[in-house]
Amino acid sequence: MIKIAPSILAADFTKLGEEIESIKSADYLHFDVMDGMFVPNISFGIPVLEAVRKITNMILDVHLMIDAPIRYIQKFADAGADIITFHVEAEKAENIHKTIDEIHKHGKKAGLSVKPGTPAHELMPYIDSLDLILVMTVEPGYGGQKFMSDMLPKITELRSVIKNRKLDCDLEVDGGINNETAKLCVAAGANVLVAGVDVFRAPDRALQIASLKQIER
Ligand code: DX5
Ligand code: ZN
Repeated sequence: MIKIAPSILAADFTKLGEEIESIKSADYLHFDVMDGMFVPNISFGIPVLEAVRKITNMILDVHLMIDAPIRYIQKFADAGADIITFHVEAEKAENIHKTIDEIHKHGKKAGLSVKPGTPAHELMPYIDSLDLILVMTVEPGYGGQKFMSDMLPKITELRSVIKNRKLDCDLEVDGGINNETAKLCVAAGANVLVAGVDVFRAPDRALQIASLKQIER
């Protein structure tokens, strides 16, 4: 079954409560944290996550686009994240296992993400301990960008590793997802679709979530 994770980066922040209510039929709520260092943009962080946690029981899928994420795992865990994903490019190699362990120590699911320029093999040393792999299908930093179809072979490669090793690991894609690109990603092996603009600008958000969800492999 395909899971849908609307990104609240595309929501209207003046009425975040209603915006979250409107997408509650989705599986995860995707929460994009940007620090202006790892990516050029700054979004929102811990106090906003705490507020969101208070008003929803949805699974909070936190995507950290921040440098040296090991510094902040405890804070995001305490603020109510359920899944914490960080970037393999953002942390020192010797800290990556430690960061994953830190996430697990707090009882949360651990995800690791790759930017478009980072090959799948960079994830391999960690893959057995991950609950989620996030393949960026745009350069991280902004919503509403065009899907990069040259990321599809990376998705295929990672799905085959997950399958061969019989891992219990979500394969999530993020950036430029709509009905058309979602089909390509699902065919390549993705099972979690992040969608910002596509869901939040849809005339009927619940219908759009349902339409993405029914895509079959
Ligand atoms: C980009 C973010 C995405 C973004 C997706 O850095 O990680 O989650 O919000 O937005 P859309 O679906 O609008 O491309
Ligand atoms: Zn994201």
